Amino acid sequence: MKRIFIVNFKNYRGGVGSRAVKLAMLIEEIASEYEHVETMVVTEPPDVFRVSHSTKLKVISVADPVDFGRHTGAVIAEDLKDNGAYGLLINHSENKISLGAIKFLILKARTLQMKSIVCAENLNQLKKIVKLKPDIVAVEPKELIGGNVSVSTAKPSLIKRAYDVSSKYKIPLLCGAGVKNDEDVAKALKLGASGVLVASGVVKAKNKRKAITNLLNGFSLNN
Ligand code: G3P
Repeated sequence: MKRIFIVNFKNYRGGVGSRAVKLAMLIEEIASEYEHVETMVVTEPPDVFRVSHSTKLKVISVADPVDFGRHTGAVIAEDLKDNGAYGLLINHSENKISLGAIKFLILKARTLQMKSIVCAENLNQLKKIVKLKPDIVAVEPKELIGGNVSVSTAKPSLIKRAYDVSSKYKIPLLCGAGVKNDEDVAKALKLGASGVLVASGVVKAKNKRKAITNLLNGFSLNN
């Protein structure tokens, strides 16, 4: 399986609306030079259509755990898929849901032939999530999110142990939180991760081209 690089745009000013499209196009352009890495973006639901129709990138977004029906204001996975989404980001620590809701969304993604990427804040949670067999899991310690110290530097043993858990189920592991440069990426891969989930290191970077290039270079540092 290819290495995975996911940029989560969150609701940062630089990652929504027309800026989401611009950023996705820049990521697509740079990522085309790194064919050994599968690059995806996570956008807010309103940006899925434009981003997925303006680029060839795989677009992930966030759905609520509900079906078609009377749920005003909720986002349903079926609608995201119809608008071009490739997968669902489930249980991000900024949008936590119950284990039952996680299961619901993994099954829905599977039915809709969408990918499920499920986040866990810690090992205990991860152990429960892998049993639900999502396509990808991601470990992200909440306290490091948005900071300058990467999870691979601050908590190497967490990644190692998370890998032990996910590899038993043959589920690729991502890690995220504070990932800012090539070395953070290389360390994560060395510890067993298949890739990284990055937000502020790209979306808030002054020089986004430089930040994206540097992070993607990290996928070849150990070779
Ligand atoms: O989903 C990725 C995210 O939570 C990590 O955020 O800003 O620490 O790269 P950041």
